[in-house]
Amino acid sequence: MGKRDLLSLRDLRREETDKIFSLTRRLKQEQKRGRAHRLLAGKILAMVFEKPSLRTRVSFETGIFQLGGHAVFLGPEEIQLGVREIAADCGRNLSRWVDLIVMRTFSQHTLEEVAGHATIPVINGLTDLFHPCQVLADCFTLLEHKGSLEGLKVAFLGDGNNMVHTWMQAAEKFSFSFSVACPKGYEPNAEVTRAAKENGGRVGVTHEVEKAVRDADVIYTDVWTSMGQEREFEKRRRAFQGYQVNQSVVAMANRNALVMHCLPAHRGEEITDAVLDGPQSVVLDQAENRLHVQKAVMVWALKGFRGSRGGDEG
Ligand code: CP
Ligand code: NVA
Repeated sequence: MGKRDLLSLRDLRREETDKIFSLTRRLKQEQKRGRAHRLLAGKILAMVFEKPSLRTRVSFETGIFQLGGHAVFLGPEEIQLGVREIAADCGRNLSRWVDLIVMRTFSQHTLEEVAGHATIPVINGLTDLFHPCQVLADCFTLLEHKGSLEGLKVAFLGDGNNMVHTWMQAAEKFSFSFSVACPKGYEPNAEVTRAAKENGGRVGVTHEVEKAVRDADVIYTDVWTSMGQEREFEKRRRAFQGYQVNQSVVAMANRNALVMHCLPAHRGEEITDAVLDGPQSVVLDQAENRLHVQKAVMVWALKGFRGSRGGDEG
């Protein structure tokens, strides 16, 4: 069988996702109890990053170390993808030294180029189009807090960006509904939206905050200006007025709705301090779960689950 890449959530079948969550649960418990789980002893992870990162970098480096492997971090200055050499050559070369690649790039196409020419698995650590590791961690966090994803209503306020696209792909896989409220001109990618609907995802796009948030079990937001869009900051800040997650927006949702954010947050812009730090916020659980979920993803990519239950892997 071919290698296992995670370029978008489309690369995971529902049963593989369930096994990843089951292994995540086990690895999280073991880590809390101080029990070693060197499932990837001696494996080397190359981390190719064209953009800054706190969570993704630290959680992958920590994760591969806890699994008995080692990480080599390559920032924008080292690799200079497309300047020193083409993406395909980067993939071909890395495949001769290391076992696994995680990449944070601008274009999804660059990631696909590397993956298409690498003989080892490639994991998407965020592109302009998708952020699958984040949404896997978010879904796992929802499972911990709500017990199940089925039947939930997830509302997203803000930009129709990489997070929204990834949530739409998650809605294809799980039976929750997903509504995004965004200003005109900032709607999600039409192709991703159409595909999600065609694949049975219950997804909706609106310009009205209340329509998205009414009866929601989860309110999600993200920065209005993503990495690479810094020059549009002022224009975006004006366009997104009215889409802030604040206490009056939280009051429109279900009682005890969870507040989520992938972080980093721009406090006072897309979300207020009171909500981000408030009792309904689970943002630090999301951040922590990046570590546990990505460890399971790396085990899946390198070893698969041999037809067994994910939690039994090892
Ligand atoms: N949420 C997330 O991916 O954070 P970083 O950009 O800090 O990695
Ligand atoms: N949409 C944000 C997510 C950061 C984790 C960005 O791409 O910058």
